[in-house]
Amino acid sequence: MTAARPLLVVGGGKMGGALMAGWISRGIPAADIFVVEPNPDNASALARDLGVTVAAAADDLPPDFLPELVMFAVKPQVMADVVPAYLPFAGPATVFLSIAAGTPIALFEDCLGEVAAIVRVMPNTPAAVGRGASVACANARVTDAQQKLCHDLLTAVGQVHWVEDEDLLHAVTGLSGSGPAYVFHLVECLARAGREAGLPEDLANSLARATVEGAGELLHRSATDTPDTLRRNVTSPGGTTAAGLTVLMGGDPNKDDPAHGPLGDLVTGCVAAAAKRSRELAE
Ligand SMILES: NC(=O)c1ccc[n+]([C@@H]2O[C@H](COP(=O)([O-])OP(=O)(O)OC[C@H]3O[C@@H](n4cnc5c(N)ncnc54)[C@H](OP(=O)(O)O)[C@@H]3O)[C@@H](O)[C@H]2O)c1
Repeated sequence: MTAARPLLVVGGGKMGGALMAGWISRGIPAADIFVVEPNPDNASALARDLGVTVAAAADDLPPDFLPELVMFAVKPQVMADVVPAYLPFAGPATVFLSIAAGTPIALFEDCLGEVAAIVRVMPNTPAAVGRGASVACANARVTDAQQKLCHDLLTAVGQVHWVEDEDLLHAVTGLSGSGPAYVFHLVECLARAGREAGLPEDLANSLARATVEGAGELLHRSATDTPDTLRRNVTSPGGTTAAGLTVLMGGDPNKDDPAHGPLGDLVTGCVAAAAKRSRELAE
């Protein structure tokens, strides 16, 4: 992975830091990465741990600095105040990449002008361990080479998909953006169920956590098997797993429409509620 000119990261917190660590592990020289980070603790940790160059503000960047990419990784609430400082870079030489949840491309176009090439991406928290799922959307100014650069940089922390319709990012937010929290909640539900089935609290908590971790890893390593196949592989007719799944699925676990049932309906409502909230926050 290479960049012709420096990469600038605005906001070196959790996500910005995780992405930069991923880039460096994929061969981008730390010397090519500049960060604007006003938090002194984060700034010194980035310089020490990653070896990147850190400035406290946009005004402290070197004279004649012209990055190939500017990645905005600050909180959505401060984005409108932060972006205008980077207006001098708006032009064909630079692509702007935003990872801020719920912040539309239109906000960046308003701040940076119509000439600005902008990519908006919705990542999720497993990006911090290199296993994220991101969906990106580009405006009309983004060239093929700039889209490839963004794709390569995002791939450093997980899988990346592209959509042309920015509106789809609300549904993406409801599924993969908020999804890790649904899975963590499943661990809580399994732990409670174990306690109510008579297990000591520590054992129930430990088994619930290990089960979700292990099942996730098994799914990850079984790239050619569908979830349906993996589920059927551990569900003997008339057995214990079938008895449990009958409750979740509202009937025969071997039915033709496995995602329809009590749990399927709950999850569909859950994703729809999160997508609706994403739309409300964007208004
Ligand atoms: N965390 C996630 O899992 C996740 C998932 C999906 C998307 N995102 C998106 O990623 C973005 C960053 O989230 P995060 O969790 O990494 O937040 P974070 O850890 O708070 O990092 C943001 C960093 O930006 C710094 N900052 C504040 N004002 C700045 C300015 N004017 N210029 C440059 N840096 C500034 C903050 O410093 P202070 O600490 O001093 O404020 C902080 O170090 C958000 O927009 C969020 O929506 C995050």
